[in-house]
Amino acid sequence: MTLKAAIVGTGAVAHLHAQALTADPRVDLVAVSNRSGERREVFADRYGVRGRYTAHTDLLAQEDLDLVVLCTPPHLHREQALDAFAAGAHVLCEKPPALSLAELDAMQAGADAAGLALAFAFQQRTGTAAAHVRQLLESGDLGRPLLAQCQTLWLRDADHFAGEHRGTWDAEGGGTTFSHGIHQMDLLADLLGDWAEVDARLWRVDRDIETEDVSTATVRFTSGALAVLVSSVLSPRETSALRIDTELATIELEHLHGHRGTDWRITPARGVDPDRAARWTFPLDDEPSGHAALVRGVVDALTTGSPLPAVATHARRPLELATAVYASATHGRPVTPATLRDDDRFQHSLRADVVDARPPAVP
Ligand SMILES: NC(=O)c1ccc[n+]([C@@H]2O[C@H](COP(=O)([O-])OP(=O)(O)OC[C@H]3O[C@@H](n4cnc5c(N)ncnc54)[C@H](O)[C@@H]3O)[C@@H](O)[C@H]2O)c1
Repeated sequence: MTLKAAIVGTGAVAHLHAQALTADPRVDLVAVSNRSGERREVFADRYGVRGRYTAHTDLLAQEDLDLVVLCTPPHLHREQALDAFAAGAHVLCEKPPALSLAELDAMQAGADAAGLALAFAFQQRTGTAAAHVRQLLESGDLGRPLLAQCQTLWLRDADHFAGEHRGTWDAEGGGTTFSHGIHQMDLLADLLGDWAEVDARLWRVDRDIETEDVSTATVRFTSGALAVLVSSVLSPRETSALRIDTELATIELEHLHGHRGTDWRITPARGVDPDRAARWTFPLDDEPSGHAALVRGVVDALTTGSPLPAVATHARRPLELATAVYASATHGRPVTPATLRDDDRFQHSLRADVVDARPPAVP
């Protein structure tokens, strides 16, 4: 079976999807749509795509598609996903999944009602090294996770925020937590499981924007593990880092936008049996994290009629965690899954109160 696929939004991230889709003999990338014509034409020429549309609605009306990949900004995901389901196509949607939990629920309800798949690109979960660590944690071989640190220290300068609608609630839906930190938060939650409580602050330390340029949060997981989270767009040496201290080892990951085995390290605690620690060595058949692995997993499922892999589902957990950061910072108290569920304001939006840490302007 050949999957007929289309990409909506031919910007930066769409290239990663196009490379993965065109490399897969089970997929025919038949069409793209993009609001701006020049970007669309250059993109379509580069990947040899026949169908070219301005509006995604025209693309859906004209093409008979199995899979629509949404690479548009997050405020468009809900509407475009529902339109794709109405046209009978499965959807693979870029992160962040939507602007709110209510929007995400509407997308999932649309998929379920149509009997179609809704997959998401949280590609930090993919790769053999992440799978290895996940398996070690699940098996209990590393002991109970106790303490974690999760850092997304990136740099977006004033020029970046001078761009149209950048740093605004309406266009981006949230600040660095939602746009950047969500990747590492997702990987952390993928490894540590469900969260029980979030206590967070949102800060504007330097950039002249509506949304936060830094967030700080403490997360308690249902396992009892504690995690300290920082997301930033102010950090000249950029890094994405995780550290998890378990009863028997320290797990560390440092990378920027994708990881492989050599980016991870497991250090045994004093006294751990060397034979046991030898089992923790990272596998040699190392596939890096990324869109190639993610897209292959989605195509595997769609071509065989099997359920989507876990690396492409569970988008609610990272969106919930991010939403809890915004809700906690605004309410000035810890948030639990139960209080978040009853929080009508934050079910529908992430728009939150940000504390200005900048000194007052000199009059
Ligand atoms: N998974 C990742 O690692 C990763 C990396 C970068 C971006 N992203 C996410 O991917 C999404 C897109 O980000 P980007 O960096 O590619 O943005 P981008 O601005 O480079 O591209 C978005 C494209 O969508 C087009 N567009 C806007 N409205 C449209 C419409 N109604 N119909 C069709 N096209 C439309 C724009 O013209 C633009 O070409 C965002 O949700 C972003 O957070 C994910």
